[in-house]
Amino acid sequence: MCGSNPNVSEAGRTMIIGSTGFIGRFVAEASLDSGRPTYLLVQSKPTSPSKASIIKSLQEKGAIIIHGSIEDRDLMEKVLKEHKIEVVISAVGGAHISTQLSLVDAIKAVGTVKRFLPSEFGHDMDRADPVEPALTMYEEKRRVRRYIEAAGVPYTYICCNSIAAWPYHDNHHPADVLPPLDTFHVYGDGTVKAYFVAGDDIGKFTIKSIDDVRTLNKTLHFRPSGNLLNINELASLWEEKIGRKLPRVTVSEDDLLTAAKEMRIPQSIVAALTHDIFIIGCQVNYSLDKPTDVEVVSLYPDTPFRTIDECFKDFARLIGDTPKVVNKPKSNDAIIVPNSKPEALAITAA
Ligand SMILES: NC(=O)c1ccc[n+]([C@@H]2O[C@H](COP(=O)([O-])OP(=O)(O)OC[C@H]3O[C@@H](n4cnc5c(N)ncnc54)[C@H](OP(=O)(O)O)[C@@H]3O)[C@@H](O)[C@H]2O)c1
Repeated sequence: MCGSNPNVSEAGRTMIIGSTGFIGRFVAEASLDSGRPTYLLVQSKPTSPSKASIIKSLQEKGAIIIHGSIEDRDLMEKVLKEHKIEVVISAVGGAHISTQLSLVDAIKAVGTVKRFLPSEFGHDMDRADPVEPALTMYEEKRRVRRYIEAAGVPYTYICCNSIAAWPYHDNHHPADVLPPLDTFHVYGDGTVKAYFVAGDDIGKFTIKSIDDVRTLNKTLHFRPSGNLLNINELASLWEEKIGRKLPRVTVSEDDLLTAAKEMRIPQSIVAALTHDIFIIGCQVNYSLDKPTDVEVVSLYPDTPFRTIDECFKDFARLIGDTPKVVNKPKSNDAIIVPNSKPEALAITAA
């Protein structure tokens, strides 16, 4: 690691942890697009060739790579100090939430970080109460919140709700997969609504929020009204895009609870969250009535969100471009649509 680079502007230096991941990449791209000096903490050995190529492409866009692990507290302190980092955004995955505690210690010790965004990027942890095993992950995220607050570290919690994609109950990165081409699985009666936000917008509005005094020590909720749909509406919209009707099979509350119990992590966590979203209504069953709540559309009324219609058009275009596609990978290792960007497609032929 080298010291602070004199060629990099000091204003707004932002470090992102987890940029090779599903959510972190959207955030890293948005940070680079906004022109901020962007530092990416990446583990010394990329865990796969595709991760190595993500790092390379972010580097080509101007990212400064720092090798190391979030768990190395001394390194974190050194990096924050030497590079005069002002904003830290963590997008570590669900299995690594507690690794952020020592990062908070490092941020506190340095004392110059103006904003920390822990790995949240979903629901409001202090309100939602999913069944296990999602509850354990939420408890970890709550613990990180309390630790940040006790340390007096300035923060913003991003509650971006669901990613704009078909919400498969067994895939934790659904935007990497086409919506169904054979059968829709409709959760319950399919009438409970959720917010579906494009990955690019999760990145873009996250980055917009980090210098905004209105989001300091607040929970930022993503509630664009045009992106609020239920599963029945989502299915009809997709049918419109592909020009044909598909059969709908009901997945009951009990089916989801059984999946949450019997599947393995991370699929079981997704099943538990699917239950919370589409049966309990955890994204829509509360009002933003705490003094710490802020809503993204009210803060940035002039910046549009991509609609789910546009996102589904992109998915449909992929089918047109490819004669035979697999619409769902057999496992989460068989990811097929990197970052849901049509131009970056790597669809697997059937
Ligand atoms: N709203 C939604 O629809 C949605 C969907 C998915 C996730 N989420 C949430 O978003 C957050 C990120 O999840 P994700 O699924 O995007 O995660 P992910 O794809 O598993 O990526 C995790 C990232 O963290 C990095 N990482 C792991 N351990 C690290 C360490 N010790 N030091 C440095 N970096 C480390 C990984 O690097 P390597 O590649 O080197 O391992 C990777 O870049 C989580 O809080 C999750 O709950 C929300």
